[in-house]
Amino acid sequence: MKKFYINTYGCQMNVHESEKLAGILYERGYIRADSNEEADIILLNTCCIRETAETRVLGNLGIIKKIKEKRPHVMVCICGCMPQKPGTAEMLKKRCPFIDIIIGTHNMYKLGEYLDEAQHKKVVEIWDKEREPENAPIHRDGKFSAWVNIMYGCDNFCSYCIVPYVRGRERSRDFDEIVAEVGSLVKNGYKEITLLGQNVNSYKGGAPEFGNLLRALSQFDGEYWIKFMTSHPKDLTEDVVKAMASSDKIAKFIHLPVQSGSDRILKLMNRKYTSGEYLDKIKMIRDHLPDAGISSDIMVGFPTETEEDYLCSEDLVKKVKYNNLFTFIYSRRSGTVADKMDGQIDLKTKTDRIERLIKLQFDIGNELARSYIGNTYRILCERVENGIGYGKSSCDKSISFEASEENAGKFLNVKITEVKNNKLKGELI
Ligand code: SAH
Ligand code: SF4
Ligand code: F3S
Repeated sequence: MKKFYINTYGCQMNVHESEKLAGILYERGYIRADSNEEADIILLNTCCIRETAETRVLGNLGIIKKIKEKRPHVMVCICGCMPQKPGTAEMLKKRCPFIDIIIGTHNMYKLGEYLDEAQHKKVVEIWDKEREPENAPIHRDGKFSAWVNIMYGCDNFCSYCIVPYVRGRERSRDFDEIVAEVGSLVKNGYKEITLLGQNVNSYKGGAPEFGNLLRALSQFDGEYWIKFMTSHPKDLTEDVVKAMASSDKIAKFIHLPVQSGSDRILKLMNRKYTSGEYLDKIKMIRDHLPDAGISSDIMVGFPTETEEDYLCSEDLVKKVKYNNLFTFIYSRRSGTVADKMDGQIDLKTKTDRIERLIKLQFDIGNELARSYIGNTYRILCERVENGIGYGKSSCDKSISFEASEENAGKFLNVKITEVKNNKLKGELI
C-alpha cells in the first residue's frame, strides 16, 4: 500500500486543509507514513506569510531532494500559499526540478487528478480563480477538537499582508451547511469546534450574520465549545459579544489582533481603526464578558515605525493585559503596498523591539497567571502524556495537572495551584 506524508507550515486554516488533502489521499487508498523517509508521496502544504515561513519550506526541500535521489519513485508535491504567490511556482520549477507537482491554493482539491497526471509528466498549475473545497473528504487529526471553515479568502488588504493575494476574495460558506457539519461533529463526540476564517466577523458581509451563526451553533445537546478565529477589530460587534455571553457553548475567548498601538502606523497598515477605537472594543468585551480571555498579534518594525510608535504598542499591551500575545517582526512581502514604502527598518532595531515586547508580555502574563492561583476552571482535557493532562479553559488558559488516560477528551474542573515559568499547574477537583 502506498504511503503519504504531509508537511504543514501555516496557520490553522492550512493545518485544516492538510486534513482535507489527507481525506483525498485516504479515499484513493493511500495510508499515512510516519515520516518523509517512509513515504511514497511527500506533500508540502506551504505558507508565505513571512519570509521565515518560506525559508523553512526551502530548507526542507533540500532534505526532500536527498530522499528523492535515494528513492526516485517518490512523488513530491508542493501546494498551498507559497506557489500561489506570483513568480514563486516558476522559481520552484527552476530551483527544484525534482518536484513533480506544483499547485496553488485554488486547485489543491484536484490533488488526486494531478497525481494521476504526474505519472507521465511534471504538473505546474496555478489558478487565479477561487474554487471551494466543498464536499472534500476530511481526515481529521483530532478526536475531540475539530476545525470548520466558515469563510475563505480576505478583502481587507492590510498593507503588509500577502493573504488576499494568495487566498483570493472573501467568500462565506452556506449557513445551513456549517450548521449541519458542526451538528454532526457534536454528535460524533467532538467537544471543541473552532470556526475558521481570516475575518469571521464579516461572515456573509457582516453583522448580524456571524452572531446568528453563533446562536444557531449553540443549540445542540451535550457539552461542547465553539471557538472562532480570527476577529478583525473593525468588524467585531456588540451583537457577537452578546451572542457569546448568551450561551455556555460559546467559548469565552477572542483573538483580536491589534498589530500596533500607534495610530499613525495603524493608518499606514490600512487597519481602519485607531488604538482608541480598539480599546473601546476591549472595554465592550469586558463589560459583557468580564472573565473572557483575549489574545492578540503585534508586529514590530513596520516601515517608518519610530521608537515613539513602538512605545505606543508597549503602552497598549500594558493597558489591555492580554492573556496571550503573538509577536512578529515585520517581513517584506513582494506585491504588497508596504513593501514599496520608504523607511524600511533595519533588522537590529526590529530584533531589539521584539525582544523588549516579548519581555514585557512575559512579565504581564506572569502577573496575571499568579492572580489565578486558587481559581477553578472547567477545562477540556486535550491529551494525557506520562500521567500529565493538558487542557484548556473556555477562556483559553492552558493548564496541566496530574491525570489518567481516561481523562483525555473530557470536561473536568481543575483548581490552579502553581505557576511555573508562566505556565499554570493545577489539580483535579
Ligand atoms: N486574518 C488575521 C491574520 C492572519 S495572518 C487578522 O487579520 O488578524 C496572522 C498574523 O501574521 C497577523 O495578525 C500579523 O500579525 C502577522 N503578519 C501578517 N503579515 C505579516 C508580515 N508581512 N510580516 C510580519 N507579520 C505578518
Ligand atoms: Fe491579512 Fe489583514 Fe486579511 Fe488578516 S485581515 S488576512 S492581516 S489582509
Ligand atoms: Fe495561512 Fe500562511 Fe496562507 S498564514 S493563509 S498559510 S500565507
